[in-house]
Amino acid sequence: MDTRPIGVFDSGLGGLTAVRELARLMPEEDLIYFGDTGRVPYGGRSKEILVKYARQDVAFLRTFDPKAIVIACGTVSTTALDVLREESDIPVFGVVEPAAHAAAQLTKNGRVGLIGTKASIRSGAYERALSALHPGVAVTARACPLLVSLVENGRSRPGDIVAETVVSEYLAPVKAAGVDTLILGCTHYPLLWDVIGAYMGPGVALVDVGEQCARWVKKQLEWNGLRNERPGAGRHRYYVSDSTEDFSALASVFLAEDVAAEVEQIDITAY
Ligand code: DGL
Repeated sequence: MDTRPIGVFDSGLGGLTAVRELARLMPEEDLIYFGDTGRVPYGGRSKEILVKYARQDVAFLRTFDPKAIVIACGTVSTTALDVLREESDIPVFGVVEPAAHAAAQLTKNGRVGLIGTKASIRSGAYERALSALHPGVAVTARACPLLVSLVENGRSRPGDIVAETVVSEYLAPVKAAGVDTLILGCTHYPLLWDVIGAYMGPGVALVDVGEQCARWVKKQLEWNGLRNERPGAGRHRYYVSDSTEDFSALASVFLAEDVAAEVEQIDITAY
């Protein structure tokens, strides 16, 4: 039993896909979320900068004495997971392994699509994890840099002509490859779930990496005796590195609860 909070971070809103599932699966856990909204997007940045940002994100979360860190970000998981793990004395979870396990189980035809940020696709991390679990799998990967901006600007609903156009252009080669499973390798992309699902069609299973990661984290905490079994609902606090208004509004819609009172701005460069 461990009543300390779980620290979760991403460049912005995307990691809320993991938070939503963590809260659903483990309602009694306290969650501290950091969204680096002042420096989003991460996806086009170099490894050096990503490692620097990720270290600061973790240093901020460590001030809450968390029992575990969840990297709810495909970009940081594919680029800096090893470094963060080496430097940490508490468990650090990323999204790649859980997503690869889910995709390996879901695919019937051995053709898997992968979309993510430029940094994630460049790393090859998802392909490596998937090939280890499913030798011979054919992965069709595509970087989709504009999708994060669409999500951060609230342009992610079906009927949004810009979102639909950009999604169809990025996904055309993935669909043409005949994949039956598509990994949404960036935690922002599930906010475009309906648009992506409609374009790919009902025969393609979508993998939400934030959701898969949350399930993984629950199991790992259980196996390691780190669950909070205290009765009652946990507290969820949100921190951002730019003004809170836009984040509060979009997060409240996505999480289907008003989070404004629990959102605070911090100076991440101080960590
Ligand atoms: N949501 C993050 C990811 O999963 C980062 C996206 C970005 O900031 O470019 O990759």
